[in-house]
Amino acid sequence: MQDILEQLEKKRAAARLGGGQKRIDAQHAKGKLTARERIEVLLDEGTFEEWDMFVEHRCTDFGMADQKIPGDGVVTGYGMINGRLVFVYSQDFTVYGGALSETHAEKICKVMDQAMKVGAPVIGLNDSGGARIQEGVASLGGYAEVFQRNVMASGVVPQISMIMGPSAGGAVYSPALTDFIFMVKDTSYMFVTGPEVVKTVTHEEVTAEELGGALTHTTKSGVADMAFENDVEALLMLRRLFNYLPLNNKEKAPVRKSGDPTDRMDLSLDTLVPENPNKAYDMKELIVKTVDDGDFFELQPDYAKNILIGFARIDGQTVGIVANQPLVLAGCLDIKSSIKAARFVRFCDAFNIPVLTFVDVPGFMPGTSQEYGGIIKHGAKLLYAYAECTVPKITVITRKAYGGAYDVMASKHLRGDVNFSWPNAEIAVMGAKGAVEIIFREDKGDPAKLAAKEAEYKDRFANPFVAGARGFIDDVIQPHETRKRIARSLVMLKDKKIDNPWRKHGNIPL
Ligand code: HXC
Repeated sequence: MQDILEQLEKKRAAARLGGGQKRIDAQHAKGKLTARERIEVLLDEGTFEEWDMFVEHRCTDFGMADQKIPGDGVVTGYGMINGRLVFVYSQDFTVYGGALSETHAEKICKVMDQAMKVGAPVIGLNDSGGARIQEGVASLGGYAEVFQRNVMASGVVPQISMIMGPSAGGAVYSPALTDFIFMVKDTSYMFVTGPEVVKTVTHEEVTAEELGGALTHTTKSGVADMAFENDVEALLMLRRLFNYLPLNNKEKAPVRKSGDPTDRMDLSLDTLVPENPNKAYDMKELIVKTVDDGDFFELQPDYAKNILIGFARIDGQTVGIVANQPLVLAGCLDIKSSIKAARFVRFCDAFNIPVLTFVDVPGFMPGTSQEYGGIIKHGAKLLYAYAECTVPKITVITRKAYGGAYDVMASKHLRGDVNFSWPNAEIAVMGAKGAVEIIFREDKGDPAKLAAKEAEYKDRFANPFVAGARGFIDDVIQPHETRKRIARSLVMLKDKKIDNPWRKHGNIPL
């Protein structure tokens, strides 16, 4: 027996060494942790249960029959994050560059299948040279098996991808199918075709970093949600994100009460919105002053900055926040911001997270680039997302809510549960100046008359009471009591239940 135990320990030690000390050192020299070290940082200490440590590939081509490394380039299993179950796979770059073989894919599929059976999230730590070249189509098949599971798990259990090295070719599509993508600066990149192919096909000269680095995907493409300085920071932030989420679509997010009283008033909010309606202010200030302990986990902070999205808590309960940001493009809705917010609203809806919307929007962005780019279709995504959403929806209009954008931003008409407005709000078809220029076009040569009409229009429509008179606004509230009123609404909505009509699935304008 002692012999057998020793053999087992030997086998385990060999598996733990992955591609060997030299390659581990090379990984460290790049500033990267190994697959196992990453799992250690991610999970609660001592909770990792590893599966399939002894799995080996079945490839016999290109001399692979005698190049078998136990585990086959991916560490898989489950463990805990703050005491809550999570399944993990972590690709080991020291083994064939983390390249995905048929068996490597089977290991990933096994944890995904189990996660679905027990209703727990899946986190993928990606660090891979893509398809295992020696295996050809068997590897491609493996990818597709993973993709299929990503799609089946979508909206059932949260899926989070961390890109911690290369992710190239079709390999990018598994992360793309998951709910959130995090990247590590300088050491990770994602692209469908690498710089060499780009050069041949389009004659563009571009580095891997420029083409698909963390900065590119968090500022230009919007593919990734956040970028971090190094592996440790990225993994610790992932733990923080995880705390906001429920384990699956049948559960609610965990409640983490803080000492922050729900009736806390913030008088500084009464002067947040400037007197001049054309002057910007920072909507983030309102968010931070409203949520528990000022703790706002913002997603995609450097992409489509005219809209803010992210998680926070009120009275310990997770809320998804969507807010127009008047500091950027006056808070207009454009293509990028509509897509950014629509996907976030759908995530919240899928996972029972109430949506809190702060509105200050002068409308959709005009112009040929927006129209040619399909703002009609993309703007409709946000409209669709809010309209189909059945989780509690609380909306606060802080200033402008004009035109179609008023309708879109979780208005009463899209089944907003509680719609508040601050007293200075302007809820109208458009701004007074634009409106008067259209309806009193014949008075164009008479500025005094136009000014009088503009004042009249403002007086009549640029306030929350016309909407209030129709019940489109449930109450006009003082800015300083915003937190208290939201907290009470959330309590009232705790057991909200509405169903959409049965259908195979809707047809969101993709
Ligand atoms: C097998 C691979 C591999 C792969 C890397 N390795 N990629 N082995 N299949 N795809 C091996 C290398 O041979 C090397 O082995 C070790 O991993 C480390 O690789 P290096 O090149 O030394 O590392 P580095 O310089 O950091 O470069 C990393 C890299 C490069 C940029 C990822 O290895 C590379 O370009 N690899 C090929 C990428 C690729 O074309 N993949 C296929 C994409 S198409 P040794 O023994 O020397 O340590 C694809 C289709 C998926 O993925 C489709 C899904 C639908």
